[in-house]
Amino acid sequence: MVNNNLSEDEISDLTEFLKWIGNVDTNGFPPKPTMNMVASANSGGASTETEAVVNRANRPQVFNQLCVACHSLKGQGGSVGPALDGVGSRFDSKYLEKWIRDPLSVKADSKMPKLPLSEADVAELVAYLSQLKGDQ
Ligand code: HEC
Repeated sequence: MVNNNLSEDEISDLTEFLKWIGNVDTNGFPPKPTMNMVASANSGGASTETEAVVNRANRPQVFNQLCVACHSLKGQGGSVGPALDGVGSRFDSKYLEKWIRDPLSVKADSKMPKLPLSEADVAELVAYLSQLKGDQ
């Protein structure tokens, strides 16, 4: 991907937009395979349609809102950055945390922007990514 030289303002506009997109109610479209319905029924039953989508595969909400725009997992998501399958086997949690907080502090010419994540987002993402081992 080319370096878009996004300013801090542009990055935060973009992330707000991606968050908004992630919350758009598509009224059930595209239809989900029955497997997901079963999974959401098992994980609490009374969840609304929107929660069923967001909680799919127990991913952190922020992952579904931001990260999938550029990264794929299990063949779904963007292709701007590398697929995140098995990322927990490639990096330890310290590295992942540092990377997520500020990619440019790890790799000066990284194409991944520093994202406006809360402490809770970072902790949740690190825990989530760390357990993505092998082809899970
Ligand atoms: C605007 C696109 C974009 C977004 C949004 C984005 N990334 Fe990235 N990410 C990249 C790119 C591009 C790379 C490759 C870094 C490089 O070498 O420049 C990368 C690399 C990574 C890596 C290292 C993977 C590896 O195998 O080397 C991890 C881990 C990662 N991103 C996690 C995340 C997480 C978690 C989020 C959501 C909070 C996220 N990324 C959001 C573009 C993005």
